[in-house]
Amino acid sequence: MTRLVVVSNRVEEAGKNQTSVGGLAVSIQAALETYGGIWFGWSGKYAAKVSVRPNVTSTNGLTYATLDLSPQDYEEYYSGYANRVIWPVFHYRPDLMTFRRKDYDGYRRVNAYFAKKLAPLLEGDDFIWVHDYHLIPLAHELRQKGVNHPIGFFLHIPFPVPEVLTALPGHHELVESLCAYDVVGFQTEMDLYAFHNYITREIQGQVMSNGIVKANGRTFFAGVFPIGIDVENAAAVAEDSKKSTTTVKMQESLHGRPMIIGVDRLDYSKGIMERFLAFEHFLQVCPEFQEQCATLIQIAPLSRSDVQEYKEMRDEISTAAGRINGRFSEFNWVPIRYMNHRFKRRTLMGFFRTSHVGFVTPLRDGMNLVAKEYIAAQDPEDPGVLVLSHFAGAVHELDDHSLVVNPYNIEEVADALKQALVMPLDERQARWTEMMKTLRRNDITTWREKFVAALREAPYSVN
Ligand code: G6P
Repeated sequence: MTRLVVVSNRVEEAGKNQTSVGGLAVSIQAALETYGGIWFGWSGKYAAKVSVRPNVTSTNGLTYATLDLSPQDYEEYYSGYANRVIWPVFHYRPDLMTFRRKDYDGYRRVNAYFAKKLAPLLEGDDFIWVHDYHLIPLAHELRQKGVNHPIGFFLHIPFPVPEVLTALPGHHELVESLCAYDVVGFQTEMDLYAFHNYITREIQGQVMSNGIVKANGRTFFAGVFPIGIDVENAAAVAEDSKKSTTTVKMQESLHGRPMIIGVDRLDYSKGIMERFLAFEHFLQVCPEFQEQCATLIQIAPLSRSDVQEYKEMRDEISTAAGRINGRFSEFNWVPIRYMNHRFKRRTLMGFFRTSHVGFVTPLRDGMNLVAKEYIAAQDPEDPGVLVLSHFAGAVHELDDHSLVVNPYNIEEVADALKQALVMPLDERQARWTEMMKTLRRNDITTWREKFVAALREAPYSVN
């Protein structure tokens, strides 16, 4: 039977991590449960003495093969080139990039190392599906080792326009190595368009009308595969969680006051600072909501804490939360409840269901599954409203029925918060019903089936 071999930087074994707020783990888990196979990647650990063989375990019929990294690999590949170069540039923040040649060498070295350890695990008719920006050169490295299997790549983050991408040292080699895949998938049409532009303008490739790309001596398919969620599961978990002790306590603590929720990894791409400033402006210009004690619950688990830009942002955001709370708090009300720890997914879904507004305002985001999970978690009889950034990938599917905002325009965001909080029930229900239809049309199953179907078509040719 054909196996699916999934490769990603992080591997999260079923049942071991129920606190994840990232969409990648949940989606991969579901894909593997359907097709059976291996999930290969980094163990999440780094140690001076790393084992030469992957650590292989099997749970519920799935095989997990993980590798540790050395401290040098962690520093150069993960903290360095992946998170201080690719991440900021792909999120349109080249000003936050810190490039060092040794980090780029480390990034290439770890990709070659992953390929070396993965190749012996492959069987004849396996399909390989590689995820995200940490592993862009992996197919190139596997091809060097004689691997001819169909290999697909899905980019979970945005693909920047050439004017921005060319600020990234190593961009030619990086995009040329993408051409070693058979299928390259993006979240939105905008990302695909940016990729096409790069291919034709920077490396003189050709883009056919049927999505076939011919570049760097190879022919492959590039397409849009917007990632979805397991809608029914999210709805069921939220329904079930409304009776949980934590959700009930949260509800009691609000005394029926309006609740607005944001849940994000603490990352500069998420626009948490701008969100706080917009909420501050909202309280200032809408005193009626001060009287009603509208509360912003912001959950922001720490992320990549040893990267300098994240440390600085953490301090700035904590300071802003303290300042705003100092300005508006009353003896019985704190406007922003800001938490840096993780919550179980079940608890988050219960919080989503309780909230009147889902406040999802990233400055740039590949998709943002929090937006989708917020919608799926709502009570059909009394749904909340989604305030969604124009710069989240999810806006391409949800723009007609969410309140779309420019996160840099704090007055506009404050207006949207007010509109959401006073919206009549029939309008909330009408918007929510349409968004649920969209989520169901393109759920997690459709996403993976479309991608795997494209991979099954490989090899591609121009004729
Ligand atoms: C984003 C990326 C994922 C990454 C996740 C968590 O969602 O697209 O690839 O795993 O963030 O970041 P971390 O650096 O903790 O793996």
